[in-house]
Amino acid sequence: CGSGATRAAGGMLSPLGEDLHPPAFLALGQRSLSLFPEFVAALEAETGAEVGYRTSGKLEVAFTPEEAEHLRDLVERHSAMGRDIQFLGAAAVGDRIPSVRGRAIAGAWIPGDHVVDNRLLAAALRRACDLRGVEILEGATVDRVDSAGGVVSGVTTLDGRSFLAPRVVLAAGAWGASVGGLPRPLPLRPVRGQMLSVEGAPPHSEVIATARAYLVPRVDHLIVGATSEEVGFREELTPEGQAALLNGLLEVYPDLGSRPIREQWVGYRPATPDGLPILGEDPELSGLIHATGHFRNGILLTPITVAALGPALSLIHISEPTRQ
Ligand code: GLY
Repeated sequence: CGSGATRAAGGMLSPLGEDLHPPAFLALGQRSLSLFPEFVAALEAETGAEVGYRTSGKLEVAFTPEEAEHLRDLVERHSAMGRDIQFLGAAAVGDRIPSVRGRAIAGAWIPGDHVVDNRLLAAALRRACDLRGVEILEGATVDRVDSAGGVVSGVTTLDGRSFLAPRVVLAAGAWGASVGGLPRPLPLRPVRGQMLSVEGAPPHSEVIATARAYLVPRVDHLIVGATSEEVGFREELTPEGQAALLNGLLEVYPDLGSRPIREQWVGYRPATPDGLPILGEDPELSGLIHATGHFRNGILLTPITVAALGPALSLIHISEPTRQ
């Protein structure tokens, strides 16, 4: 439970930093970010857990003229809409991160970005389910959604067990495409992300991102992400992928090269053809609720997904995808 993309994620809550588009998707991400304080407060109060939610800010760092141009464009587009993002010159970046002084040529500072510890968040949600008497069957692979006359009746697992239910929430992440019994195949594919973390207190409390890696600080370790690979469900870590992450880390923090590697892992982002999530009730199969296709933003979109699946389902409307 929670061991897929939920566990693999870095926990960046970064609608501007991830440059979500089209505008309706950015609005969805920002709305979800705005729901986090209440969501986390309720979860922490209910479970007694602490999930590492905090305002971190995010600093994007450019090392080449092309990367600087990209950041200038990012800042101009978003600041023109009144969003809180600032372009930084080389000196300002060096003041914030002395280890890149003399090498970084520009930056973008996003003060409102947040982080949450996605693994603590998942554990707290699991605990909340336990406290509420939710029964979670682990290792029970869903073979198909059952229905009759356009109405959901439950699910059948691969080992042949059937469960009756008037509503089924399909939240199988990148594996959703292999669930049978749907009106149409779900257009989902896995996009592999390799990650790693290194031991020790991070030098800075903000998230730092470059064109090659992002660095997410936890209390006693630093997460380095992530590759983005169209290789299907291949579990392995590769020298190329891990080297890219390590080089991305050392580019920002050359002095961390002797720190012990704490963990290396792989996850699968559930990607859709247009990069947008699939949320809400199926138009052809009553009672089937989709909660998938969150791609790079599943942790960010958690609260808004909860809202979409709840009584407010009919209030959630994502306008037609149009690329900027
Ligand atoms: N959200 C960051 C990633 O998917 O790598």
